[in-house]
Amino acid sequence: MFPRFRRKRINPVLRDLLQETHLNVNDFIYPLFAKSGSGIKEEVGSMPGVFQMSIDEIVKECTALKALGIKSIILFGIPDVKDSVGSDAMCEHGIIAQTIREVKAAHPDMFVVTDLCFCEYTDHGHCGVLDPVLETVDNDITLDNLAKQAVVHAKAGVDMIAPSGMMDGMIQAIRNGLDKASFVNLPIMSYSTKFSSAYYGPFRDVAESSPGKGDRKSYQMNPANRNEAIAESVADEAEGADILMVKPALAYLDIVRDVKNNTTLPLAVYNVSGEYSMLKMAAKAGVIDYDAVMMETMMAFKRAGADIIISYHAKEVALLLQK
Ligand code: PBG
Ligand code: ZN
Repeated sequence: MFPRFRRKRINPVLRDLLQETHLNVNDFIYPLFAKSGSGIKEEVGSMPGVFQMSIDEIVKECTALKALGIKSIILFGIPDVKDSVGSDAMCEHGIIAQTIREVKAAHPDMFVVTDLCFCEYTDHGHCGVLDPVLETVDNDITLDNLAKQAVVHAKAGVDMIAPSGMMDGMIQAIRNGLDKASFVNLPIMSYSTKFSSAYYGPFRDVAESSPGKGDRKSYQMNPANRNEAIAESVADEAEGADILMVKPALAYLDIVRDVKNNTTLPLAVYNVSGEYSMLKMAAKAGVIDYDAVMMETMMAFKRAGADIIISYHAKEVALLLQK
């Protein structure tokens, strides 16, 4: 006697009945990149289908997203002026505060998440204030600024804050700042386990956020470390994070499962720019069935343990799910 697995694979209806993992349009958050001006929608060479947009275009895009059933976006800002601390990010008239206000005014039913970091806003391109001696980000000064940035987003009407800078203590600092300003009901989705990854390359073109000098290895994690990856997420849960995240996604599915098994919190994955561009370029070269590979990849994220998928593919996935 041997087990007959194929007995349950012959009838397609039975195959569907037995499918363990399901994708739903509700699983997705779609990233958008805001800049000042009007009528601007500029495609990014390294990421076909991804655009830098002025706020009016983002407002229009939200109408298209809702028609596809996508109800949640994550915003990144490209400011006009960068400086050493990233002032635009902490200003109520800054690009992100303005975008939140205009999107929420036009689309009160759109769930607006903001990426909370400084790399797009600093002239040196690092994720916080630089320590002049160590030439790396000063953790604790950056914590104060992250709390300020969070309160600015909160006052503008954001629905969820997503800090991505990998500073130690960032969740506690942001939670305290929000609570003190009476935003006790504003959730935090932490980029809790974020690796120092070459897969972010194309994003840095879109967000104009490459570090001028050096790299992010003193704050983002070493891709080789599994125990530390779990510890980072567990620490953010203890500090008060509401949702955890593993980023990048595709090359880190083992970590997604590890984190899932070590928390009761919901878990997000960030299907990053490099992962997106690889599929786009492979499709262009005619070497893959793009739709099939994309859907298989999304399914893999959920099977590994993701509850939420942040992805540039979200619109394409939503269309396929309607079929
Ligand atoms: C900013 C941030 C980055 C991404 C999301 N937030 C870039 C980075 O850390 O360099 C990457 C997203 C992507 O590659 O799609 N801290
Ligand atoms: Zn950053």
